[in-house]
Amino acid sequence: MTLLVCLALGLVLSTAATSHCSAVLMHGDEPDDLVKRSCGMIVGYEECVAILRSDPRAAKASDVKELAYVILDLCIANATDTLGQIPKLQAQYSAHDQMKQALDYCEGEYRSAIKDYFGEAVKLLDAKSYQEAQYSAHIGGALGTSCEQEFYFQAPHFSPLWVRNHDLAVLGLVAEGIVSLLRLNETYI
Ligand SMILES: *[C@@H]1O[C@H](CO)[C@@H](O)[C@H](O)[C@H]1NC(C)=O
Ligand SMILES: *[C@@H]1O[C@H](CO)[C@@H](O)[C@H](O)[C@H]1NC(C)=O
Repeated sequence: MTLLVCLALGLVLSTAATSHCSAVLMHGDEPDDLVKRSCGMIVGYEECVAILRSDPRAAKASDVKELAYVILDLCIANATDTLGQIPKLQAQYSAHDQMKQALDYCEGEYRSAIKDYFGEAVKLLDAKSYQEAQYSAHIGGALGTSCEQEFYFQAPHFSPLWVRNHDLAVLGLVAEGIVSLLRLNETYI
């Protein structure tokens, strides 16, 4: 199920990327222009602009790679905050086996998203491995969706992490898109 969601999302993104890929971003843009033009080339323009505008580092960024570091950092911060909320929920639902099981699962997914995927994506950016970085960002966001699905499978009533899982999925989508622009540049310059 998770794999299917990932594949479907990947398909949407690669279609969008190829249809928008003629524009090339140049050095020395107005910072806000850089945010708008970068977001304009990926899926989720509104969300992308809103998220990046919320961070003063993005306004100071002089190229797309800096934006990529900012968005990945926001992914990590967001997921870390959520991971920090999980123990409280585990305590709250300790008498509810199915909820507890789903929360334990989500704890693993969030840990993995932070370290194995978004954290790894940062290292891959450092190493200029943009394709791998894009893939890692993609999986990181998809783990929010994977957590959400676990509630439907385990405890089909209510997911106390719905908003946060949704946030992570959107952040991951934007991160994947921004990182993908680095690949376009690599290909077309
Ligand atoms: C594209 O590559 C050029 C040359 O390496 C660089 O100056 C520019 O900032 C890059 N643009 C993006 C979108 O990363
Ligand atoms: C997580 O991301 C969402 C969407 O960008 C944002 O609204 C929320 O404030 C963030 N939360 C934290 C703790 O960073």
